[in-house]
Amino acid sequence: MTTYLVTGASGHLGRLVLDHLATLVAPQDILALVRSDTAAEACAAKGIASRRADYDDPAALRTALEGVDRLLLISSSEVGQRAAQHGNVIDAARAAGVDFIAYTSILHADTGGMRLAEEHLATEAKLAESGIAFTLLRNGWYSDNITMTAAQDLETGQHFGAAGTGRFATAPRKDYAEAAAIVLAGGHDGEVLELAGDEAYTLADYAAILSDAAGKPVAYTDLPEETFRQALVEAGVPGGFAAVLADSDAKAAQGALFDDSRTLSALIGHPTEPIAETVKRALA
Ligand SMILES: NC(=O)c1ccc[n+]([C@@H]2O[C@H](COP(=O)([O-])OP(=O)(O)OC[C@H]3O[C@@H](n4cnc5c(N)ncnc54)[C@H](OP(=O)(O)O)[C@@H]3O)[C@@H](O)[C@H]2O)c1
Repeated sequence: MTTYLVTGASGHLGRLVLDHLATLVAPQDILALVRSDTAAEACAAKGIASRRADYDDPAALRTALEGVDRLLLISSSEVGQRAAQHGNVIDAARAAGVDFIAYTSILHADTGGMRLAEEHLATEAKLAESGIAFTLLRNGWYSDNITMTAAQDLETGQHFGAAGTGRFATAPRKDYAEAAAIVLAGGHDGEVLELAGDEAYTLADYAAILSDAAGKPVAYTDLPEETFRQALVEAGVPGGFAAVLADSDAKAAQGALFDDSRTLSALIGHPTEPIAETVKRALA
């Protein structure tokens, strides 16, 4: 029997991974790493047992990973703390004798130059030093990031960014989740997978797609990186994270979030969801 554990199991991506993984392996062989009773209850409702640990708690992680063979480390959402947190998970996995780790990194982590990639690169290096077999799921931008502001964009008639004519090859979380479940189930150990959507578009293209879907005018307004950062802060995004997001757009202008390898659709065995479909789902 192989035991699979998914971290970040209460998150948007993690919940989708659990659903897909349960179609590939026996649900009783899956464990979810969570931090709350509510999350544990949600997993139990799906027939999935949970273990409890925070990425900041090495002792709890060591206990939680006992008996685990294959681990999906979904990157933490606590930007700035992540290299240390992921390091704790990898150390605990080594101590617990975990055989394999799949890690959700970022598209072109080593060449895109995004500030967001720094902690991912540190984690990739830690994995390489760990001696544990691993696969890198270098996930591109979620389409859901782009559609997140759809209601506000329709209200103001503008979608703001700093990506110029850079193209985004995005896919929705559900496609990345399917890929993560497939890799965790087995057959792709040791791979570095640059995962992105089949279709790429500029933010001006996106504004036109949103406009068509909603029947209301929306134009893309391109801002200098610093102006975009300030706008994000004014919209309530914490300062450090606003800077990271503005940097991501600026690097996307140079191609950091573009990829045409179609590795994701080959892995999941179907085309990725086009952005126009994700927009329709967001507006429904
Ligand atoms: N490629 C992209 O476009 C993109 C976009 C956004 C995020 N991401 C990355 O992908 C990850 C998954 O995305 P998502 O949408 O599922 O994010 P999410 O919904 O914010 O989920 C984050 C998950 O991480 C868990 N977590 C956070 N801090 C933790 C800690 N200290 N100890 C243990 N667990 C912790 C959360 O647990 P709780 O429920 O207990 O808080 C939650 O399960 C994110 O965390 C981020 O690293 C990528």
